[in-house]
Amino acid sequence: MKNDLLIKAAKGENINRYPVWIMRQAGRILPEYRAVRSSVKGFKELVKNPELCCDVTLQPVDILDVDAAIIFSDILVVPEAMGLDYEMIEQKGPWFEKTIRSEKDFELLSSKVDIEDRLGYVLEAISLTKKELNDRVPLIGFAGAPWTIFCYMIEGKGSKTFSESRKMLYTNRELAHKLLDRITNVTIDYLKAQIAHGADLVQVFDSWAGILSRQQYAEFCIPYLEKICSAISDTPVTIFSKGAILSLPDLAKLNCNTLGLDWNMEIEGVRKLVGESKTLQGNLDPCVLYSDRSAIESETKKLLNSFKSTRHIVNLGHGIYPDTDFEKVKIFINTIKSYEIK
Ligand code: CP3
Repeated sequence: MKNDLLIKAAKGENINRYPVWIMRQAGRILPEYRAVRSSVKGFKELVKNPELCCDVTLQPVDILDVDAAIIFSDILVVPEAMGLDYEMIEQKGPWFEKTIRSEKDFELLSSKVDIEDRLGYVLEAISLTKKELNDRVPLIGFAGAPWTIFCYMIEGKGSKTFSESRKMLYTNRELAHKLLDRITNVTIDYLKAQIAHGADLVQVFDSWAGILSRQQYAEFCIPYLEKICSAISDTPVTIFSKGAILSLPDLAKLNCNTLGLDWNMEIEGVRKLVGESKTLQGNLDPCVLYSDRSAIESETKKLLNSFKSTRHIVNLGHGIYPDTDFEKVKIFINTIKSYEIK
């Protein structure tokens, strides 16, 4: 691998500068993505086309010179593979016709998911991208965390409160665990297949972690995340639990290499809680990229100066917003690349 900074940082090995990549780097911030996107009917046509997925995965590597590629796909391919078809509605987001609210609904789900059969298009995109990358930078595979996928399966769409999902934790705990366990098993098979096809590191996105209490997170999320982490050996795993500030001591005990941090988490404080045994990833507020050059440079340097070890991967604290000017992204990336680790 020509540039394996990401893998080295994830494993806690020596690095001479911090690696950087950006959550949602393959997407609407790039005019080149918008061109590919407008050549197909909808988002799903893109996601199910391995050649086009490969093209848009490579765009940020070529244009932004990031230290990793992340396979272009979506976390929602997993509920779909389990039996819940979704649509991505323009300007609105995901929409599922069927949702899981009862034992009877649970029976709708396939009891066994053949990953090669149901998600072969993602695996093919990974193989193709791996070949085209030609070992320039590592390729990141990903999946949604069981809790976040659970939220979409119960709710059937995005939500401000995810109250149907949280309701089930009180009203039908047994079904909640049954569904979380089912999602976990599919996710493990899916991530292992991604690794077999060439993913060099995998990230688990728990986008809705922050709506649970520490106690609920400990009961309904941590054990499933642990099952995923322990099922994967030899390939670095990153857990990104957005908003789970109170659960950081529990996340620190997971068998993973890296914890992703959102912008509300403070590096120094998290480092104290987590210790030196984990790499931390993040966590610039994506809104910093709306400010001018000097503010972007100084906020980025402030973040880098807060790192007291080499166990860091630089990223934003959440996915980049689609209306961000990619020239601003370049300022962020160049500031990191020219920063010397003291
Ligand atoms: O560059 C990358 O990061 C790879 C691609 C990627 C997408 N989605 C493509 C996408 C990744 C890693 C995701 C993860 C994802 N998807 C998450 C977890 C990360 C997070 O943001 O918290 C979640 C919650 C989803 C579900 C999802 N997908 C929603 C709610 C939406 C609609 C809102 C939105 O952001 O547009 C999507 C659509 C989506 N996924 C787009 C892209 C590029 C935009 C749709 C389009 O181009 O038409």
